[in-house]
Amino acid sequence: MKELTYESFKRLVTSLKVKLPSFDIPRLTIGNKSAQIAVVQGGMGVGISLSSLSSAVANQGGIGVIAANGIGMIEPGYFKDGRAANIRAMRNEIRKAKANSPGIIGVNIMVALEDFQALLQTTIEEKVDIVFLGAGLPIKNMPVAQLREAGVQVVPIVSSARAANLIFSMWKRMYNDVPDAVVVEGPKAGGHLGVAEKDLEDEQFSLETVVPKVKEALSTYIEEFNKPIPIIAGGGIFTGEDIYKIMKLGADAVQMGTRFAATNECDANIQFKEAIVACTQEDIGIIKSPVGLPGRAIVNEFLTSTTKEKRKFSCPWQCLAGCQAEASNYCISVALNNARKGNLKSGFVFVGSNAYKISSITSVTELFQELRQQYAAAFFADKKPLFITLAGWINKLKDEYRATEQRVRELKDSYLHALGTVVQSNWGATLKEELKTKNEQLEQIRQNIAEKLHTLFSSTSHKPIV
Ligand SMILES: Cc1cc2nc3c(=O)[nH]c(=O)nc-3n(C[C@H](O)[C@H](O)[C@H](O)COP(=O)(O)O)c2cc1C
Repeated sequence: MKELTYESFKRLVTSLKVKLPSFDIPRLTIGNKSAQIAVVQGGMGVGISLSSLSSAVANQGGIGVIAANGIGMIEPGYFKDGRAANIRAMRNEIRKAKANSPGIIGVNIMVALEDFQALLQTTIEEKVDIVFLGAGLPIKNMPVAQLREAGVQVVPIVSSARAANLIFSMWKRMYNDVPDAVVVEGPKAGGHLGVAEKDLEDEQFSLETVVPKVKEALSTYIEEFNKPIPIIAGGGIFTGEDIYKIMKLGADAVQMGTRFAATNECDANIQFKEAIVACTQEDIGIIKSPVGLPGRAIVNEFLTSTTKEKRKFSCPWQCLAGCQAEASNYCISVALNNARKGNLKSGFVFVGSNAYKISSITSVTELFQELRQQYAAAFFADKKPLFITLAGWINKLKDEYRATEQRVRELKDSYLHALGTVVQSNWGATLKEELKTKNEQLEQIRQNIAEKLHTLFSSTSHKPIV
């Protein structure tokens, strides 16, 4: 017997005119915002994810995210007044993204930013759908009432169940409210990491270990506040199979950065994207960022030179409380902005640990298609024994189905003939009755198959889009 594949199973089911439930990536609902596909494009500063990338992702049914940090660098006035340029650029990018997509657009803001509150206010004024808050704990001075009134959903980014617990317990105490979802970012992510360098390889800190722990930590808040709090897992997610696997461990969605950085729609210069395509596994390393966190990047000549000789550089303004630019020998915002513009001699590219697997720059549409197909195939592969049983059962029914179908055709012909000749009205009535019964039998077979398919889905955590 030929091996059952996802495609052959699909053909078998649809040949019997049964609608196959979708094996697609499920939806993601955060508060009153619902995305068709549970894929969040991670915010990527400085200027890597702006209106072009975020709107393209939102148009594919995912959640597109504009990164706020250093966003003003895309404006000419940044070096004169960084704060004002940040607000101006952010407002513009939010408006452009919204004009280009009716989908869900979020903004990512680093809590450690000096102008964090001002940027957050701008997202409230612009009524963005969601704010993602990382690089620090969004606890103190949160304008919760304003965020609620503007309908802005709040999603902190954490790397441990401890941090999630801290944020949720403090919110409960201080605001009698809790955030609307959580991003769990694991040690394989690109950019700044929430896991200490010494722990990056420790299984205890892996995404696969932390996701179930965060899920457990949130369960009491889900019950107490009577609302779902989805978990969005990120860091090293590369294929639709990765999405399927992490969802099986309890994630409701994924956040992906690097793969979106290598798309046509990504807001960075082509040289930035080509650097990702060209990098090897050995090129990817961990740096000590001036921000005081480890970061994963393509370690190029610029980065190695910063650890060798004293460099001259200027800091446009102290955009980040506690930034150690002097000790690190460079301003990270300027370096990342240079990379965005394609000047990799004076900058560098943040990437996730799987960046070396990217072999070409693609479109956001193609990337979504690929992820969705891979997800469906992974679902099928995981449940293969069940699908084989189901296919065996359907194949048996197929003969009965075909025979019934053939009989229906014959009956139809005879019935039409009977109507034409009008010899025996009884004969016509009998034919009509049998035709009706046979049609009902066909429908019953279809329903049985559909029911079995649904039982299959309900035995998994997968929520089919029907
Ligand atoms: C180029 C680049 C820039 C990033 N910038 C930010 C940022 O400004 N703020 C943030 O919270 N995360 C940032 N990240 C992390 C992403 O939002 C995302 O969580 C991460 O890339 C997921 O891992 P992956 O790249 O393996 O998919 C950045 C990642 C990359 C690759």
